[in-house]
Amino acid sequence: MEVLKIQGGIPLKGHVRAAGAKNAITKLLVASLLSDKPCHFYNVPSIGDVEVTVSLCQEIGMQVSWDREKGEMHVVTKELKTSYIPQRFSGSNRIPILMMGALLGRTDEDIIVPVAGGCDLGQRPVDFHISALESLGASVEYRPMKRQGAYFARAHNGLQGNQITLPFPSVGATENTILASVTARGTTVIRNAAMEPEIIDLILFLQKLGANITVDVDRTIRIQGTRRFYEVQHTVLSDRIEAASWGMAAICTKGRVFVEGAQHLHMITFLNKIREVGGAFDVRHNGIEFFYDGPLEGGLHVETDVHPGFMTDWQQPFVVLLTQAAGSSVIHETVYEKRFGYAETLQEMGADITLFKQCLGGKCCRYASKNYAHSMIVKGPSPLTAREISVPDLRAGFAYVMAACLASGQSVISGVQFLDRGYENLAGKLAGLGVQIERSTVKDPVPVMLPMAVDEEEEVKLEECLA
Ligand code: EPU
Repeated sequence: MEVLKIQGGIPLKGHVRAAGAKNAITKLLVASLLSDKPCHFYNVPSIGDVEVTVSLCQEIGMQVSWDREKGEMHVVTKELKTSYIPQRFSGSNRIPILMMGALLGRTDEDIIVPVAGGCDLGQRPVDFHISALESLGASVEYRPMKRQGAYFARAHNGLQGNQITLPFPSVGATENTILASVTARGTTVIRNAAMEPEIIDLILFLQKLGANITVDVDRTIRIQGTRRFYEVQHTVLSDRIEAASWGMAAICTKGRVFVEGAQHLHMITFLNKIREVGGAFDVRHNGIEFFYDGPLEGGLHVETDVHPGFMTDWQQPFVVLLTQAAGSSVIHETVYEKRFGYAETLQEMGADITLFKQCLGGKCCRYASKNYAHSMIVKGPSPLTAREISVPDLRAGFAYVMAACLASGQSVISGVQFLDRGYENLAGKLAGLGVQIERSTVKDPVPVMLPMAVDEEEEVKLEECLA
């Protein structure tokens, strides 16, 4: 097992580059499966989720050439080798479910995709995806298997555009519906769609690929079906979660970090909260510098929301920042029901955090009266003490890294594979900012989860279903 050993108490100082966005490139690769034309990607991050997505796409026929040093990837899927995504990709990340939309758009054959995985943030159902794809004429059936279930989908007569209103602006369901609509006959209208910058990046890519898509300000996306595609060059937008993570780490350790590639347009809500807590930033032409500018003041009220609201993925490191701010602040998580799993470890490190099942905030969210601890009060400032930490998920992982940078003493962080999924060269970047960090291997008491081991029997059963 690999661990990160971090000696806390040193302010982060220097220059770091935010990589291309994990939540954009993984979808762009899937989108490229719609056509048989070459696609050239730039600013591709060298992270675990891209590796898993590449293997998944290669499995079904994509040819890939990836220069990790240059951050360039050239792909083409001249023809599909199969439309069956093996069970071993189940649980690896959220991408398998998006394969359904892309494959329905590419082939009339039967499609099998395993259940999606990703971080454990709650139930994470895919009902909106399924019902949107059914509205486009696909038949989708969930079949339980011995260990993990799989979705069986088909649209033997092709897909037909339709009017779809999502019950919630789900990122994945919006992406899946867009992907399936690109080759559908006629026009698809998606209402209450998610409008995250990563979705706009997907739309920009698809437009270059040949799709005709319009985006209205009222969360409506219109897609005119096509089967005429072009070769594409696309630069992946920079990762606003990573950029914000470095900004928060700089401010809470009383440091100063210039984040190259941080884009103002995608961080407006975040920057407002940074200013409210007393942190400082300077927006430059090629990035944003974040710095400590005197004692941090709490008293904030933060409600996570879909874009353009405060991202749920900024929430965990922001809580660590709030442990260093004077006074009480309130966090209301409205996107996921179970995104405070990291709080207990922070409490053990010395943070003053109390969880509540009620909605603490003006927004009446989907979890009101549902018994989920989805609100929190953080009181600060609290000195933190180093300890052994096990990372439960990607963003909680960065929050722990921040806490370790702040804490007195040396923390040992395990579960590094979660961090590797989304942060490129994390230890190297931290070292470049002055953090005393060592990545080393220790005896492994915990089985590594990515990717899942193959269950031969289950694979055979699925092959039989396809035959
Ligand atoms: N939801 C449903 N039914 C559905 C789909 C979603 O109830 O069919 C619920 C989810 O359970 C959740 C909420 O809707 O409570 C939002 O889910 P959404 O579909 O928007 O999220 P996602 O597509 O699964 C992506 C990112 C997450 C990010 C969220 C919200 C990827 C691969 N993941 O997940 O990123 O938190 O959008 O912005 O794009 C991360 O990068 O660490 C991460 C978790």
